[in-house]
Amino acid sequence: MSDRSDAPTSVIRLADYRPPAWTVERVDLAFDLGIDRTEVAATLELVRQADEPMRLNGEGLELLELSVDGRRLGEGEYILANGVLEIAVDGDRCTLATRVAIRPAENTALEGLYLSGSRDKGFLLTQCEAEGFRHITFFPDRPDVLSRYTVTLRADRARFPVLLAGGNPDGAGELGDGRHWARFVDPHPKPSYLFAVVAGRLERISHDYTTADGRAVALHIWAEADVIDRCGYAMDSLIRSMQWDERTYGRNYDLDVFHVVATHDFNMGAMENKGLNIFNAKYLLADPDSSTDDEYRHVEAVVAHEYFHNWSGNRVTCRDWFQLSLKEGLTVFREQSFSADMNSAPLKRIEDVALLRRAQFPEDAGPLSHPVRPSQYSEINNFYTATVYEKGSELVRMLAGHLGRDGFRKGMDLYFARHDGQAATIEDFLKALGDANDADLSPYLAWYGQAGTPRLTAEGRFDAAQRRYRLTLRQRTPATAGQPAKQAVPIPVRLSLFDHSGAALPLRLEGEDRAGDTERTVVLDGAEHAFVFEDIDAAPVPSLLRGFSAPVILECDYLPGELAILLRHDPDGFNRWEAGQQLAGLAYDDCRDGNVDGSALRAWTRALADLFAGGGVDDALLAELLTPPGEIELVERQAERDPERIRIARQAMLRALARRIGAEPLRERYEQLRAATSAALDAPSQAQRQLKRRLLDLLALVDPAGAAERALAQYGQAPGMTDRLAALATVATYASPSAEEPIAHFRRRYDGNALALDKWFAMQAMLPGAEALARVQALEGDPAFTLKNPNRVQSLLGSFARANPTGFHRADGAAYRWLADRLVAIDALNPQVAARIATAFNGWKRLEPVRREAAHAVVAGLAARTDLSRDLTDILARVAL
Ligand code: ARG
Ligand code: ZN
Repeated sequence: MSDRSDAPTSVIRLADYRPPAWTVERVDLAFDLGIDRTEVAATLELVRQADEPMRLNGEGLELLELSVDGRRLGEGEYILANGVLEIAVDGDRCTLATRVAIRPAENTALEGLYLSGSRDKGFLLTQCEAEGFRHITFFPDRPDVLSRYTVTLRADRARFPVLLAGGNPDGAGELGDGRHWARFVDPHPKPSYLFAVVAGRLERISHDYTTADGRAVALHIWAEADVIDRCGYAMDSLIRSMQWDERTYGRNYDLDVFHVVATHDFNMGAMENKGLNIFNAKYLLADPDSSTDDEYRHVEAVVAHEYFHNWSGNRVTCRDWFQLSLKEGLTVFREQSFSADMNSAPLKRIEDVALLRRAQFPEDAGPLSHPVRPSQYSEINNFYTATVYEKGSELVRMLAGHLGRDGFRKGMDLYFARHDGQAATIEDFLKALGDANDADLSPYLAWYGQAGTPRLTAEGRFDAAQRRYRLTLRQRTPATAGQPAKQAVPIPVRLSLFDHSGAALPLRLEGEDRAGDTERTVVLDGAEHAFVFEDIDAAPVPSLLRGFSAPVILECDYLPGELAILLRHDPDGFNRWEAGQQLAGLAYDDCRDGNVDGSALRAWTRALADLFAGGGVDDALLAELLTPPGEIELVERQAERDPERIRIARQAMLRALARRIGAEPLRERYEQLRAATSAALDAPSQAQRQLKRRLLDLLALVDPAGAAERALAQYGQAPGMTDRLAALATVATYASPSAEEPIAHFRRRYDGNALALDKWFAMQAMLPGAEALARVQALEGDPAFTLKNPNRVQSLLGSFARANPTGFHRADGAAYRWLADRLVAIDALNPQVAARIATAFNGWKRLEPVRREAAHAVVAGLAARTDLSRDLTDILARVAL
C-alpha cells in the first residue's frame, strides 16, 4: 500500500482464487518493542498444501535473519522481491524462523505497527486488516490461513508499563535492565488480519462478566489517562452487546479476557482483533460535555459491531477479501438489529435508510460502483465501502425477512456450527441459511454480484366492476461502470393497501380463499409481475416496500394527496416517514421549478403543519418528519447538477414549511422544549433536543434575527454538547457575524479535547456558501490542525469535500484545485486517508458543464501523476474514467 504506483498495479480477481499452497499451523512471535525500532522474531510451523514454493508476504521489513528447520539461509537460497519472500522447500512441513526490524515512529500510514500520539507520551499499537500484518513480519498474509498464535512482548517497563496482545494471558515477568515481558496464547486459530498488540502507558476500567454458558471474562477498556473517565458508556454498551448476542443468537464470548483500546490515531472506525478490539477514540469515548446524542448512539453501535465480529468474522472468517461483506454486511445487520432493540426500531430504520441513500446510492450510481461482492480490486482498502457494509446489510436483511425470525436464527446456528474455525464464502452463508430451512436462497446471489440500485416501478389499476386492484411491479437496474448488462434480482415488497380514510385493508390475492393480514410481502423475482388483490371497493393507496424491504429506488406515480394520506395515517413510523420523504421529493420539484403554489408543496406543508399542531406524533418522529431529504440526495432530482440551486430550492421548501406551521407555533413549541432542557440521555430527552434543533433551524428561515438570538442563548445555557453544537451551527449558518464570539469561545473551552475540536472543525467546514473555502483554508492555520491525524483531516477536509456541496463545488473550481493539492500531501503520509477523501470527486461527471469542466481538469491532472500511492491511484483511475 505504501508502494507508489510506478510499480505495476496488479489487479486481483475473484476468478483467480486458489487455496494457499502453504498454511501455518502455529506461529510464535516475540517483539522487542521500541518506538524507533522494534524487532520481531517469528517462528512459523508451515504445512504444505500444494506442490509449490513457499511464498510469504512482507513489506517494509528489514530482514535480519532467516532460517528453515534451524538452518540459516544464505543469499541465494531465497528470493525477496515486490513484497514477496519465496523459498523452495523440500518436504511437507517445515519450521521457518525470521527476525526483522521495523520502524513504528516512521509509520504515518497507520497500518502495521505504529505510534499513536507523541514520541514521549504516546503508545504503540497495530492495525492489520486488511493487509497490515505483512508490515510486521513475513507471513502468508491472507484470511484463509488460520493459525494458533503465541505472542511474547518485551519492553522497557517505565515507557511501556502495559503490554497487551490477543488471546489469554500466559505469564509475565521482569527481564532486568528495567525491562519486562508478557506472553499471550490464543487457543482459537485465526487469520493474520485479526492479530493485534498494544503497548504503552494506558489506564483501564474493568468489569467482571459471566457469559450465559458460565465463563468468567475480565472486560477491560483501555485509554490514555486524560480520557479514561469517558469510557463508562462504552463498557455499558459492551455488556449490553454481550448479553444481546447470547439472547438473540446464542453466541457466547470465548476467551478469559476481552480488551478494548481507544486511540486518537486510527484510519477507520474500529477493529475487531481477536480479544483485543481497537477503536478510533471517536467511537469509544463519550461524556455529556463533549459528545452529542448521535455520538452516544454511534459508540453503542460500534462497540456492538466489533464485539459481534467475534462470531461473524472471527470464529467464522472470510476465505478471501472478495467475501468481505460476508463478515461486514452480516455484522452491520446484527449491529442494526441490536441498536433497534436498544432504542426505537422505526427511528433506527429511518437513520439506516437515510444513510444508505446518502452514502451508498451515490456510490452505486457513479464510477466507483461495485457489487457487494466485487469481482476484482487493485487495492482492497478501497473496498471498505458503503456498498460492502450498508448494502451488504440490506441483503442480509432480505434473507432474514425471507426466512422469518426463527428460520433465520436456525440458519445462523447452522452457519456458525458448520463453518466454525473456517474461512467461508458468501455461497457457504446462503447455503447454510437455506439448508437449515429447506429453502433455496441461491437466487439472492445475483444481488451480491451485481452493482447498481434496481429501479422498482409500481403501477396500480383499480377495477370497480371486478372489485379488484391489480398491482404491476417491474424492475430494471441501470448499467454501471464495467457492468452493462443486468439481470433481475428477487425483490421482496412488503405492502399494505389503505383506503382514503387511512384504514389498512385486509389482503386477499387472486386464487386465495380468504383474506390474511393487512400487511404482506410479495416477491418480484423476474422482470415483471402483476399481483391481483380481491374484494377492493375503491381505488386504494398502496404503501410499498414497507420497512424498506429491499434496497431499491421505487418509482410510482403517486399523487401528492395519496402520499399525504400515508404521511398522515400510516401506523408504522418508518413508512410514515418514507411517505413524507417521497412527498418532500415532489415538493422539492415544485420549488426547483419555481412553482411556489405547487400541489405537492401544498400537500407536504399542510400535512406536516397538521401533524405539528395536532400532536399525536412523538417528538423524535416529528423531528424526522420535519427533515426532508438532504442536498446530497436531492441531486438525483436535478438534471443539471448545480449544488447552489439545489440548496436554494431546498431552503425554499423549508421556508414554505415554516410559514405554513407559523412562526408563532414554532416559537412556542421551541420555548416549551427549551424550558424542559436537560442533559439526560433517555430517549425522550434526546428526542426533545432533536426536535428543538429542527425548530431552531425552521425558525431561522422565517425569523432570522430572533432565531440567532435564541440560538445564542441556547449556546450559553446548553447543559450538554448536543444543544451547544446545534446552537452554534444555527448561528453560524444564519447569522455568521454573531457566530464569531461563540466559535472562539468553543475553541478555548475545548482546547486539548481532540474529539470536541473535531466537531468544531467539521461544523465550520460544512457552513455553506462562497466563503466556505476561505474559511477552511483559514482553519488549516489553526495550531490544532494537522494532516497527520485522520480524524482531523476528516473533520476539516472530509466534511468540506463530502458534506458541503455548495462550498466544495464552487463554480470557479478553486476548491477542487485546493483539494487536489492537499490530497497529494496527505497521500505522502497516509494513502488510505487520501483515497477516502478523493471519493468526493465521485459525482463530477454529472455536474453542470462549468463545474464539470473544472472538476475534470483537476481529476485528470491527478490521475495522470505517477507518484501517488496505489490507494489514491486506484480511486482516481476509476473516478476519471
Ligand atoms: N473490520 C473493521 C470493521 O469492523 C474495519 C477495518 C477496516 N480496515 C481497513 N484497512 N480498511 O468494520
Ligand atoms: Zn466490521
